[in-house]
Amino acid sequence: MDRREFIGWVSVSALANFLLVVLTACSSGKDKPQVKQENPKINKIVRKDGFIVLSKVQALSEQGIILDKQNAAKPILIVRNPDNMNLSAINPTCTHQGCLVEWKTATKIFACPCHGSKFSSDGKILTGPAEKPLESFEAKEEDGLVLVKAI
Ligand code: FES
Repeated sequence: MDRREFIGWVSVSALANFLLVVLTACSSGKDKPQVKQENPKINKIVRKDGFIVLSKVQALSEQGIILDKQNAAKPILIVRNPDNMNLSAINPTCTHQGCLVEWKTATKIFACPCHGSKFSSDGKILTGPAEKPLESFEAKEEDGLVLVKAI
């Protein structure tokens, strides 16, 4: 291969690479397969159906609870009841004198550390001195997100 023939091959190769880059950059992407969203976005705006997204399901699974004090008018504590795998969303403010209740996974109850009131996973009173149940909210999972209707 002489020098002129070599330069010709290099030029053809460079032109082919350039065209490949241009065609790839100009493709519309319509033929690309849809990839399931691995990291769903949290959108804390109230949706038309009244739900707000508070967390990812993965975060709830990893942490066991989600306590949110910022994105609704009231604090919201979300847990998963291990018996039926349903979500429980409650206002963790004890109805006795306002301490924050804690979720006890082993006994599946909310317990108040201040004066000993106990509540079921849906907020009903099990033991006083509290006389009113915890406020509870509708909660659900959707597309890997935890949603609560707390308005
Ligand atoms: Fe919860 Fe008193 S504040 S039992």
